[in-house]
Amino acid sequence: MKGIILAGGNATRLRPCTEITSKQLLPVYNRPMIYYPLNTLIKAGIEDILIIVAPDYAEKFLHLLGSGEKFGIKISYKVQETPRGLADAFIIGDGFIGNDNVTMILGDNIFEDDLSEHIKNFTGGGKVFAKKVSDPERFGVVRFDESMKADTIIEKPSEWISDYALTGVYIFDSRVIEVARSVKPSARGEIEIVDLHNWYLEQNELEVAMITGAWLDAGTFDSYLEAQILAKEKLQDKMVI
Ligand code: G1P
Repeated sequence: MKGIILAGGNATRLRPCTEITSKQLLPVYNRPMIYYPLNTLIKAGIEDILIIVAPDYAEKFLHLLGSGEKFGIKISYKVQETPRGLADAFIIGDGFIGNDNVTMILGDNIFEDDLSEHIKNFTGGGKVFAKKVSDPERFGVVRFDESMKADTIIEKPSEWISDYALTGVYIFDSRVIEVARSVKPSARGEIEIVDLHNWYLEQNELEVAMITGAWLDAGTFDSYLEAQILAKEKLQDKMVI
């Protein structure tokens, strides 16, 4: 299993703080934000991690995390020249993934749950994680049928379909590279991660697991504040880095 952390993007919703640094380097209580998704991957035993960064702050990530040796893992870096969508991570990371399975996590997603068993026991197909939220319009959303099988997945639906958001951690087999290459940009000009989910869903190979603990996408000032409180109150004893 390989790991990818997507830490690119412009983070316009956190301006002016992100005028001078990357969102994923902002402090979340006592650690840089990226430590939390990195912790999720390291805890699951992933030893080879690619970090995808925006060009302006690439050297800062290198300065902070280096080769990964201090964490007992190998870290490599790639630059995403422009934010082309989340699915682009698998195209940028194609050579890194090779024929392996991959867990991709967004650099601003913070989980209370330990996802290690899901990651360690993954054998193929796709696995994504849902959480009931009060503001589903902010996220990729999954609707379930009566037997709680996923039937529809839509990115930021303009009309309500379900309260279940798809969180920013994704496990795929290496077919995801070709699927990402085949995806056409959406109306907002991005290659959408939900198109990958929908491909695996069509093959009947997408598993949707539930997140039971707290989950935050620290991309707005309110969720960033919540992330700091979560980190202080509930995450300190879960950190291995
Ligand atoms: C992205 C994804 C969305 C997902 C969310 C989780 O949205 O496109 O499907 O639910 O991350 O954090 P973004 O935060 O980039 O708008």
